[in-house]
Amino acid sequence: MTLDTKRVEYETAGFDVADADPDPFVQVQAWWDEWSAVAPNEPNAVVLATADASGHASARTVLLRGLDSSGFTFFTSYESRKGQDLDAHPTGTILASWVPLLRQVNVRGTITKIERSESETYFAGRPRGSQLAAWASHQSSELIDRAELEGRFTEAEQRFAGQAVPCPPYWGGYRLVPDSIELWQGRPSRMHDRLRYERAPGVTAWRIVRLSP
Ligand SMILES: Cc1cc2nc3c(=O)[nH]c(=O)nc-3n(C[C@H](O)[C@H](O)[C@H](O)COP(=O)(O)O)c2cc1C
Repeated sequence: MTLDTKRVEYETAGFDVADADPDPFVQVQAWWDEWSAVAPNEPNAVVLATADASGHASARTVLLRGLDSSGFTFFTSYESRKGQDLDAHPTGTILASWVPLLRQVNVRGTITKIERSESETYFAGRPRGSQLAAWASHQSSELIDRAELEGRFTEAEQRFAGQAVPCPPYWGGYRLVPDSIELWQGRPSRMHDRLRYERAPGVTAWRIVRLSP
């Protein structure tokens, strides 16, 4: 089988405006639940795309840690490449690619840091090893070798021995507040369903439009 001849028919029931919950967060949560039931591991993994000051796009996987009407929340280093991108352009896209269900969810919006107290509460609930790693890793910066990283982990272990590990000042959450949420459902003969929820800035009500696949 070569890449250019592999073909799969997308036999699904489809996704119509009449099926779509008027609240996109309820709709995405419903799809999320279906995905979580079949995902082999890390169902929360999504791709986050950002752009730097000169417009160059980059993308990486992050774990989604919150999904409700306030937005889509993830945690990272504010000093990382994505953090620098978001300093330059506080906007981005989260893509959930659920190919085994022949679905994708594409969420676009503004991305800003969450409250410090919220990041600290989340950090406090992480395993200790992950907490120490956040101190050891200056995410996206160059290392001489792995030993340098492991040395920093040992330093963090010694520094915080016998005490709780605090949330590093450069680590925390971001929340994407969407202006557009697109749900895609594969259908036979490439006649897919694409519904987009959209709202204007400052408007809470959503309208649903059907897009050509
Ligand atoms: C399954 C998986 C989950 C990940 N989750 C996160 C995460 O929640 N936060 C994070 O900062 N990086 C996470 N990463 C690592 C990122 O993909 C990326 O390598 C890192 O954030 C640096 O990205 P940047 O240099 O573009 O900022 C994850 C990677 C994978 C494969």
